[in-house]
Amino acid sequence: MKNYRGILNTPRPDKPVENPKAVLITGATSGIGWATTLLLASLGHKVIAIGRREDRLKELQTATEGMLGEVMTLQGDVTDGEKMLQLMAEGLAHFGRLDVLIANAGIAHRGLLVESNWADLETVLRTNIDGVLHSVRACVPAMRASGGGHIITISSVTAVATGPGAGIYSASKSAVDALARALRVELEADHIWVTNIWLGQTHTELAQRRLGTPGKVASKLPTMTPEKVAARIVWAMERRQRVIILRPLDRLIIWGGRLFPRILEKIMYRVYR
Ligand SMILES: NC(=O)c1ccc[n+]([C@@H]2O[C@H](COP(=O)([O-])OP(=O)(O)OC[C@H]3O[C@@H](n4cnc5c(N)ncnc54)[C@H](OP(=O)(O)O)[C@@H]3O)[C@@H](O)[C@H]2O)c1
Repeated sequence: MKNYRGILNTPRPDKPVENPKAVLITGATSGIGWATTLLLASLGHKVIAIGRREDRLKELQTATEGMLGEVMTLQGDVTDGEKMLQLMAEGLAHFGRLDVLIANAGIAHRGLLVESNWADLETVLRTNIDGVLHSVRACVPAMRASGGGHIITISSVTAVATGPGAGIYSASKSAVDALARALRVELEADHIWVTNIWLGQTHTELAQRRLGTPGKVASKLPTMTPEKVAARIVWAMERRQRVIILRPLDRLIIWGGRLFPRILEKIMYRVYR
């Protein structure tokens, strides 16, 4: 119940926050990143919004004009470490500080581990793992200079509840969890906190744009809206939580899977088959 209270307590967009933060978010051109950028801007925060699709970045810039906060859209690919450093420098030159990184950019894949096209598997690993690391490495020096900060990473329930054809995505999201845990202890002395979100199925473009074998969305389970997830991400910015799982259903999948792995494997086999 604590989680749902959190969502309800999220400040309303017509009420500006008292201490606006400078936030860098990756994957801002659709889904959760788009919804989070809109919410942050409506609350008065300053946002460096990154993505690859230029037309979407322009739309985002237009959509946030006139809001309480300020959004600086920058085109870039999280798999390019040098580019991420350059974008961070541009954002810092404009806003003067960085308080929060939301390492949200990600890509999905469907296909068997042994048969899939290697280039697709590599793209998932480079986006979902290297992309998080490049974002973190670009942002941490600015956070240190600002006296501390908060990194929010987006993992997935699929990291535990994997199935045939979902292996590379699940592996990449397990890696995000491990990175978050390591970063939390490595950066604590710098007053940089790390929160990892174990996200359940959300209605975005992720499934449509996934690499590998085309097919239907895997699960018949209920989906969340990106706005609900955005509200929880913004809520997390004000708190020091290690892990956030939004729904009781996702908690059940994660803990049920740990306690009864064979049962979860059988269920996931049916879901993904
Ligand atoms: N939707 C779900 O059910 C679900 C569940 C668990 C976890 N998640 C995670 O939530 C995060 C957001 O996904 P979403 O559901 O909002 O999907 P989405 O609508 O497809 O958004 C993904 C975002 O990542 C960006 N992106 C992808 N590759 C990139 C790259 N190389 N460099 C920069 N940006 C890149 C995309 O923009 P461009 O193509 O314009 O670059 C897009 O803005 C992902 O990490 C995803 O794995 C989603």
